[in-house]
Amino acid sequence: MRQRINTGISILDKMINGGIPEGNQVALAGTAGSGKTLTAFEFLYNNAKEGKKGLFFSLEEAPEQIIENAKDAFTDFKDIDKQIANGNLKIEGADIKETIRGAGNGDESQMNYLFGSVVNQIASSIKSTQATRVVIDSLTTFKLLIRDPLAYRMLSLNLVDVLKNLNVTSMLTLEIQTGSRERLKYQPEFFIYDGIIVLYAIPEERSRIQSLEVLKMRGTKHSFKTVPYVVTSSGINPIISVENVL
Ligand SMILES: Nc1ncnc2c1ncn2[C@@H]1O[C@H](COP(=O)(O)OP(=O)(O)O)[C@@H](O)[C@H]1O
Ligand SMILES: [Mg+2]
Repeated sequence: MRQRINTGISILDKMINGGIPEGNQVALAGTAGSGKTLTAFEFLYNNAKEGKKGLFFSLEEAPEQIIENAKDAFTDFKDIDKQIANGNLKIEGADIKETIRGAGNGDESQMNYLFGSVVNQIASSIKSTQATRVVIDSLTTFKLLIRDPLAYRMLSLNLVDVLKNLNVTSMLTLEIQTGSRERLKYQPEFFIYDGIIVLYAIPEERSRIQSLEVLKMRGTKHSFKTVPYVVTSSGINPIISVENVL
């Protein structure tokens, strides 16, 4: 059996029968505000506490913003600064907004070049930090820039190959426009990834319920259930007690 990389998010680890199979490149897909960034952060933080090095590579928010938001949401995570200081948790970002502006209306070849240079930057950060766990938040930044869906998929496939060759286990966040559970499930780009975790914000009568579902996870059996969760001060936690989730 392949080694497991625990996410430390107990409900998620249960849903994938122990942890992410080592070397899997997992998409964490969901609508805006569904909790992708925080979930991915918690994965790296929990691993950092166990002495496992992680790289959080942000393509959306500045690293300081990521840290501030995580501290605001997870007030029980007392060691964020410590894990950053000891090198177990590295938060980096590429400011691609300027480059995008420079590229004007999105010349396709320029966008491909930009994507390639960010992938190189991620690869060299992984090497220099010796991270074995990686988060890229989010790939949607590129999806918005590259109009041709096939080109976007090829570039995503290339990124996944680069990560695989570096032997890391990753969560790659994807922002999905639709809140519809059925449509969320069948994104054409999903075939690229070894695993797909979806975060839903399902509308109820007067509010929304955040839920977690594992659509696919290579190398393990996994739950077919959709589990409601909340962001609490101690991390991502299920709302109801879930025993037989597998
Ligand atoms: N301090 C907080 N306390 C409780 N919940 C929070 C806090 N900050 C953010 N959240 C929840 O997390 C969501 C944002 O999470 P985030 O990971 O940034 O979403 P995404 O990356 O999917 O857009 C918010 O919509 C809110 O529901
Ligand atoms: Mg986010």
